[in-house]
Amino acid sequence: VIERKVDSVLSLMTLKEKIGQMNQYTGGAEITGILSESKNNQLPELLKNGGVGSMLNVLSVEDTRKVQTIVMENSRLKIPLLFGYDVIHGYKTMFPIPLGESASWDLEAIKKSAEIAAREASASGLHWTFAPMIDISRDARWGRIMESSGEDPFLGSRIAEARVRGFQGDDLSKAYTIAACAKHFAAYGFGEAGRDYNTVNIGESELHNIVLPPFKAAADAGVATFMNAFNEIDGVPATGSRYLQRDILKGDWNWKGFVVSDWASITEMMVHGYAKDKVQAAQIAIEAGSDMDMEGHAYEEGLEPLVKEKKVDVALIDDAVRRILRVKFQLGLFDDPYRYADAEREKNEVFTVENQNIARDIAKKSIVLLKNENNILPLSKAAKSIAVIGPLADDKDTPIGNWRAQAEKNSAVSVYEGIQDAVSKSTKLTFEKGADLGVGERSFLLPLQINTTDKSGFSKAINIAKKAEVVVMVLGEDAFQSGEGRSQTDIGFSGVQQELIEAVYKVNKNIVLVLMNGRPMELNWADKNIPGILEVWQLGSQSGHAIADVLFGDYNPSGKLPVSFPRAVGQEPLYYNQKNTGRPSAGNGHVTYSHHTDTPKDALYPFGYGLSYTSFNYADLQLDKKTMSSHETLIVSINVTNIGKYSGKEVVQLYIRDLVGSRTRPVLELKGFEMISLDPGETKKVSFTINVELLKFYTANKKWEAEPGEFHVFVGGDSRTLLQDGFELVNHN
Ligand code: IFM
Repeated sequence: VIERKVDSVLSLMTLKEKIGQMNQYTGGAEITGILSESKNNQLPELLKNGGVGSMLNVLSVEDTRKVQTIVMENSRLKIPLLFGYDVIHGYKTMFPIPLGESASWDLEAIKKSAEIAAREASASGLHWTFAPMIDISRDARWGRIMESSGEDPFLGSRIAEARVRGFQGDDLSKAYTIAACAKHFAAYGFGEAGRDYNTVNIGESELHNIVLPPFKAAADAGVATFMNAFNEIDGVPATGSRYLQRDILKGDWNWKGFVVSDWASITEMMVHGYAKDKVQAAQIAIEAGSDMDMEGHAYEEGLEPLVKEKKVDVALIDDAVRRILRVKFQLGLFDDPYRYADAEREKNEVFTVENQNIARDIAKKSIVLLKNENNILPLSKAAKSIAVIGPLADDKDTPIGNWRAQAEKNSAVSVYEGIQDAVSKSTKLTFEKGADLGVGERSFLLPLQINTTDKSGFSKAINIAKKAEVVVMVLGEDAFQSGEGRSQTDIGFSGVQQELIEAVYKVNKNIVLVLMNGRPMELNWADKNIPGILEVWQLGSQSGHAIADVLFGDYNPSGKLPVSFPRAVGQEPLYYNQKNTGRPSAGNGHVTYSHHTDTPKDALYPFGYGLSYTSFNYADLQLDKKTMSSHETLIVSINVTNIGKYSGKEVVQLYIRDLVGSRTRPVLELKGFEMISLDPGETKKVSFTINVELLKFYTANKKWEAEPGEFHVFVGGDSRTLLQDGFELVNHN
């Protein structure tokens, strides 16, 4: 039915109106600015004439209604606008940054957070989020690693599906669901040296086996839109890549949604040195399959002359417009262009107590216990005295993280507040910042100034540390140290934080380090010296409460790292699913093998790693057969026992290794995981089913297929501590 409606609208449209649908313009915070009738503001006229298909950064029921009304009252065909916005990890109620949330490995919770974000955003007039970001991210230097689900294509694919389903629900036309956008297509996470927007040089194998699977998963889950990427790959800007957008996405995958460019990425092809002017950029982009031009003004300027001069076939324009109209129909906008602009909902459904509770739940599940020497954790709520120290300890803003949508400044619960709410009245709680981290103005676009000199607060911090039974130190990164345009070459503690922790350590070694950060950090000193380390990322609105839940044992930590933490930044990009190389280890004590001479080869904390207040024992790994044909399934089972004192949750992980391939295969690949809950002394048998689909990869035949041969199977609680067995795949045809 929708297809017929799309065709009938399309048949009424002039070329200009069609091109209008392919333009997306920004509103910015001040709606009055964009709607002003000043001479150099073209927007009101464009809106009236059907020259705009979508707006981004126009928010709220009032403003989206105002802008939609211009189109509905003036344009000839009254095609509703689509309002898009970066709702990345919450709208006003903030959830953990996506990297942190991915550490929960809890797909239901992840889906739920996307669902709540969609509810809040749709209640404020929005139809479309530019999320999920599903770029595989292996490089801690890259600022946007915070926005990703980490380094693994299997986990990344499951999370991509969960987020798409959370945002879109089962029915896009429901007023509380919004269209999702799989971005950035593709390989944006592979910029050289982890530098944002930088050149990407990856081959076919890495592209198909590592980068594309989460995008394929999102497409299969029905994601309504894709966004292409700023980067070039092997000499071709992603925005101009026909191979990615037409051959793979719209061809092989037969995906029916529309592709929006990244911000001005069509015109940036000129800067890349790939198009000589805007008109050529428009031609390259439309031919490559970019359907909507975000803020590039290249389609507005270039497409009409290109069609008139017969350089661009109008069928390409029709295809793009058809895709855009389809999403507008799916959202129900033709039935009611104002269905998402409901003032009552905006008042009642945003930042509610219920949403805060859900945010707290996912936040505590995202925390990863990295170290717990002598069971320093959990702390007692009745401890005699606790000193809370660190520049981020009372910070109510950093926990909101970057890409914070409409979160109010300073609206998170700080760690100090969380601890205050948790401890008993008899506990002597003291607090000193010790030092500032960021100084001056902080914002999405401006560089952050770090305090590297002012240590005047040290002595007060040392003083309270001396007198306390235990010290909770909250260090890490400011919200604006990671995110877009925030790549770094140093991933240790910035400013005076390292000096602060060492100074406190001199007077009290009983320290729990709470790490608040958007990327893996270099933590060697802390790992050697500090008994308790909790990775808490930036956990959103309910951060402090969630952290206190874990600090005091109301919640036993269950998070597992979705990304490797290096020993040194020089190891980056570092990832567990690496290749063996021809020289993986030392022979005869010679140096001539693949390593760095000054740092061990492995991660400090590997992918999949995370402790619990209890301990789990893995035993009896069993495979139900040793030989499997491509028509069969193979069952892998293992017994997991809680051998500690607390009830706890464990993410049981299944990995394989394909020993020989027509393209070399990684030494380990995650192929399954299951979260189980165990009481002390309890054992559960966990089973995984391996079928041929799980063994497929992009082979030398340029096909997604499994190759017969030997496979190793591994099961354990992280990618380093694993039990192993093996089987052979035969007769794969
Ligand atoms: O969605 C973002 C994208 O991830 C980076 N460039 C701008 C877009 C819209 O804000």
